Amino acid sequence: MRGPAGLLDTEAIRKDFPLLDRQVHDGRRVVYLDNAATSQKPRQVLDALAGYYERHNANVHRGVHVLAEEATALYEGARDTVAGFINAPSRDEVIFTKNASESLNLVANMLGWAEEPYRVDRDTEIVITEMEHHSNIVPWQLLAQRTGAKLKWFGLTDDGRLDLSHLDEVITERTKVVSFTLVSNLLGTVNPVEAIIRRAQEVGALVVIDASQAAPHMPLDVQALQADFVAFTGHKMCGPTGIGVLWGRQELLEDLPPFLGGGEMIETVTMHSSTYAPAPHKFEAGTPPIAQAVGLGAAVDYLAAIGMDKIAAHEHAITEYAVGRLGEVPGLRIIGPVTAEDRGATISFTLGDIHPHDVGQVLDELGIAVRVGHHCARPVCLRYGIPATTRASFYLYSTPGEVDALVAGLEHVRNFFG
Ligand code: ALA
Repeated sequence: MRGPAGLLDTEAIRKDFPLLDRQVHDGRRVVYLDNAATSQKPRQVLDALAGYYERHNANVHRGVHVLAEEATALYEGARDTVAGFINAPSRDEVIFTKNASESLNLVANMLGWAEEPYRVDRDTEIVITEMEHHSNIVPWQLLAQRTGAKLKWFGLTDDGRLDLSHLDEVITERTKVVSFTLVSNLLGTVNPVEAIIRRAQEVGALVVIDASQAAPHMPLDVQALQADFVAFTGHKMCGPTGIGVLWGRQELLEDLPPFLGGGEMIETVTMHSSTYAPAPHKFEAGTPPIAQAVGLGAAVDYLAAIGMDKIAAHEHAITEYAVGRLGEVPGLRIIGPVTAEDRGATISFTLGDIHPHDVGQVLDELGIAVRVGHHCARPVCLRYGIPATTRASFYLYSTPGEVDALVAGLEHVRNFFG
């Protein structure tokens, strides 16, 4: 078949990803459509991880020996690479965490212990949205419970977008923090950041953006975004698990208190009190995820060499094709935007009254890997009156042929369940 325009050379790209050659269930080549959960890793990242452990492994910032210096240079080099990738004004604004959940919990806890003007208390409000992943809901619920602050949220429209019709009533003079996802992990919706940030800035609220489903797929420029904090994770963007990022504006990182205490984050310690190292180290207690940061640096180099704009164009073309082809499947209902505009390459759907777990299981037998369930965004399922969805999510190595395989697989599911 002739593919849509704008596609990357997936034949070449797929050669970098050993797992994409994997066969499952009696010799079926795996069709990996679960990229919103985690991406596959290119050889370049696997080599960086092995190379780090084989040649440079030591603890960072502590030793005077050559291995410690090499490990430190590699770890801090990864910070430079990530800072460049997101156009951070300073490398010191990049904090390494375990994952995006930890990044978001870190912000909530910084604010939980903060003094004025950042203090969150019973006279203040926290604003999120109904389309958040649980990792951008639960930390704010915990903060609200602890401080007495009121938790508010933007609801969703029937077509899977944020309902901003009452923007000025949701974000008010009492709002201290607005935290929302750039791209929904269930609906695929890309959110209108500017309108929300403009209103948040009007009332002096801090803005936190969950970019977990954006950083892997499109150019991310924290200066252009104008948020105060941006969180994302490494494993969805060709990096290893166990590494996340929190970018924060320098003056905030200077002012706000640490959350975790321990080694590496201090300046001096006595038995009575401690003073803290400057950011980012103030927020990186204990031995950090060194190899994982090195792996993330290699992943970022890999993505940047291809070009995030080209990756975004590829995914747009695949999404347009997939939305069209899925529309041909009788009984299929897309949960989320039904066009490729302002949406990412994650498509959730229901298929008649066949339970998504059954859909996922039959697809798996055909070698097609999708995710089923509420995708850690249960309020979205509640909003649309469904228990779960089947979710297909694409990435830079996805092909129109894989979309065709999914559509054929869904035909098989329909026949199977009569
Ligand atoms: N956050 C990941 C997802 O949405 C696990 O699938």
